[in-house]
Amino acid sequence: MNPSKKVVLSAVQPTNSAHIGNYLGAIKNWIPYLELYDCLFFAVDLHSITVNQDPTELRENTYRSIATYMACGIDPAKATLFVQSQVPAHAELAWVLTCNSSMGELSRMTQYKDKSQRHGTHIPTGLFTYPVLMAADILLYGTHLVPVGEDQKQHLELARDLAERMNHRYPKDSAGVESPLFQIPEPMIAKVGARVMSLQDPALKMSKSDPSPGACVFLNDSDKEIEKKFKRAVTDSGTEVPAENPSPGIQNLIQIQASFLEEPFEKVHSRYIGKQYGYLKVDTASVAVEKIRPIRTEIDKILNDRDYLTKVIRKGQETAAARAEKVRNEVYKRIGFIGQ
Ligand code: TYM
Repeated sequence: MNPSKKVVLSAVQPTNSAHIGNYLGAIKNWIPYLELYDCLFFAVDLHSITVNQDPTELRENTYRSIATYMACGIDPAKATLFVQSQVPAHAELAWVLTCNSSMGELSRMTQYKDKSQRHGTHIPTGLFTYPVLMAADILLYGTHLVPVGEDQKQHLELARDLAERMNHRYPKDSAGVESPLFQIPEPMIAKVGARVMSLQDPALKMSKSDPSPGACVFLNDSDKEIEKKFKRAVTDSGTEVPAENPSPGIQNLIQIQASFLEEPFEKVHSRYIGKQYGYLKVDTASVAVEKIRPIRTEIDKILNDRDYLTKVIRKGQETAAARAEKVRNEVYKRIGFIGQ
């Protein structure tokens, strides 16, 4: 760790394989930080058990998450890659923050409102307190910047509120000197790709748990599967791409292509004005296939070298745990625990 560098931190839930929303909205945007910042990226397995997980799949998907980060270009020599449950301070700080959060502010979280609806009367408590655990993830490392997709913005606001509240409640360090306990984190949200929509219903965010086949393009989909999903993407009843106000389905395809190619939305849009939707679908599929293929191959290669992957995770755990414990100890002292 270099204290003069800003801290960048982000994470993905190890459920299923990552999809192109996770890649374009988050993982791809982590790469520019690697050279200049102090980066931590991890698999949030504690978060993923807010809904039922098959243990074997969870374990495999956790390895897959870290392999995915590496395959997408996150060099473990330049960032700390780790698994959340291997660093106990996440759960420990989450409890402290839970006691400093209110039912009211957690009930306002739109992701909770959406997700809890799927659970009828038996809503897992973890789904409710989940954003507090996410705040703990962020605040434990003195994080400055959090590159995430649009859907995490509200959770980031909660993390900021909790940081400010704790700083106000516990302004002095254990030696009695005034110093802020937590850094106030900033969300970093990409201009294009921050909200990739379902290919089957462009009113819905692309999501791993979408039961509709073809709604979601995964990074482990084959070339054929990717092509098929884009070809069948739901658009609207029109036939040609308009110059003004393309429908949400068309906008989504343009956005996906623009984000993969790192081009402005308008530039990609201008190539298709007046052309049949089919051209946009075929080209977007082919861009996605070309970008995803090397990532998919690399993920498989890394997963097959389990010794190497385990070493990366072990090293990440050591680094992250040492850093997180220091912050947790400071929190424990400030709130009046007798400490370690
Ligand atoms: P998760 O696992 O749902 O998503 C991981 C990242 O992918 C982004 N994302 C999307 N971006 C664009 N379009 C989409 N359709 C799309 N779907 C997902 C998310 O915004 C996110 O950046 N709570 C977090 C994980 C987390 C975390 C953290 C993130 C836990 N602790 C600390 C940052 C910092 C989550 O469930 O992400």
